[in-house]
Amino acid sequence: MAGRQLLMTFPVTESSHRLAEYRARGGYAAIEKALRSMRPEDVTKQVTDAGLQGRGGASFPTGRKWQVVVPGDGQPHYLIANADEGEPGTFKDRWILENAPHLLIEGMLLTAYALDARHCFIYIRGEFDLPYRRIAGAVDEAYAAGLLGERILGSDFSCDLIVYRGAGAYVAGEASGLISSLEGKKGYPRNRPPRLTVKGLYQRPTVVNNVESLSNVTVIVRDGIDAFRAVGTAKSPGTRLFSVSGHISRPGVYEVELGYPWRKFLDEDCGGVLDGRALKAVVPGGISSKILTGADIEHLTLSHESLWEANSTLGSGGMIVVAEGTCMVRLLEIMLRFYHHESCGQCTPCRHGTGWMHRIVARIAAGEGRPEDIERLYYVAKYNDGTTICGLGDAAGYAATGILDKFRDEFEYCIEHKRSRYQGRLE
Ligand SMILES: Cc1cc2nc3c(=O)[nH]c(=O)nc-3n(C[C@H](O)[C@H](O)[C@H](O)COP(=O)(O)O)c2cc1C
Repeated sequence: MAGRQLLMTFPVTESSHRLAEYRARGGYAAIEKALRSMRPEDVTKQVTDAGLQGRGGASFPTGRKWQVVVPGDGQPHYLIANADEGEPGTFKDRWILENAPHLLIEGMLLTAYALDARHCFIYIRGEFDLPYRRIAGAVDEAYAAGLLGERILGSDFSCDLIVYRGAGAYVAGEASGLISSLEGKKGYPRNRPPRLTVKGLYQRPTVVNNVESLSNVTVIVRDGIDAFRAVGTAKSPGTRLFSVSGHISRPGVYEVELGYPWRKFLDEDCGGVLDGRALKAVVPGGISSKILTGADIEHLTLSHESLWEANSTLGSGGMIVVAEGTCMVRLLEIMLRFYHHESCGQCTPCRHGTGWMHRIVARIAAGEGRPEDIERLYYVAKYNDGTTICGLGDAAGYAATGILDKFRDEFEYCIEHKRSRYQGRLE
């Protein structure tokens, strides 16, 4: 772990996912404190003032999202933890589900209390096996201990939590697609307005938050605003989990204080680029965030403001390290194949655009590229941007233009010489 170990204040042991161990380390003290001495609006205010930003990809301020839901307005409210984790390169929510599931449950209880939500759901990626068993086991433990269900810890607050398994669609991780799937329909995203916080699950006010965002709620209520803001930067408070993969010596999940120097993180905490090779590029936060070159990141820090300055985002925290010698044409081909496969097909620009871009890059990679192909890719990406219901179509375009902006010469070489400069190498 880079910096101090903050969010997961306990080392992973064989039983760190169990209730007894979580409680022995002070677990569920935050919900006890909230039920004893805080009003629902106090919890929302604390999360707002702490400056928590969503960890699912868009970094939307968590407190601001919650404020739309009015406790006691006479209608049911729902809370959903987004545990779909489908963004390529991202596997940090899985870490929480496997090793610290009670941190999430406690965060959900606090959030449900703040939102006046009687029923909560965890929508978990269909392919997850151990994470599912761990979170389902933790929910059972919490029910048996009176931490879920009727009159929690002897208070007036009651809350049920249902774990729901998805069926493996990337687009069902998009909040409105997730809700459709949870309602038993196809996981199709839908247009806004109305916002989900106004009309979400079963047409009622619904908050969808990422697993890591909700786990941070426990930390904020447990330790207080000052402790949370004591790490990170003014614009990016707290820590983030990064799942690091690709050409890196020590892949894994790291908790990093926001504002930490990026290059130092890769070189010292993650052991440097695999086999001592030079750093060619890094995908910062899942393939939907724009790729940066090794030179780009040299002076950047892991914070929102630093990434925005570089025209990218921290996204979902799925960091993919790319060493020198990797073929970017082949890399983009793989990314676009994913988007095309996962497009739900509702919106014409995405349904056709992702496939169109994939076919163009596949033919360039096969040595059959045409001189006009690069401009055509920019054209298709442009007409995908902002013309679809959800962000999947936009993201496919960003992946394409992000790589083309930085590595156009490789595509030109491939078109001109009818072969990749790197023979399509990815290892
Ligand atoms: C195609 C697509 C897939 C997404 N997949 C996920 C996902 O797997 N997990 C997640 O938390 N958010 C995902 N999101 C973002 C969600 O729509 C939503 O913004 C997020 O769950 C809100 O939580 P947060 O505010 O706590 O970040 C996805 C978005 C899109 C467009």
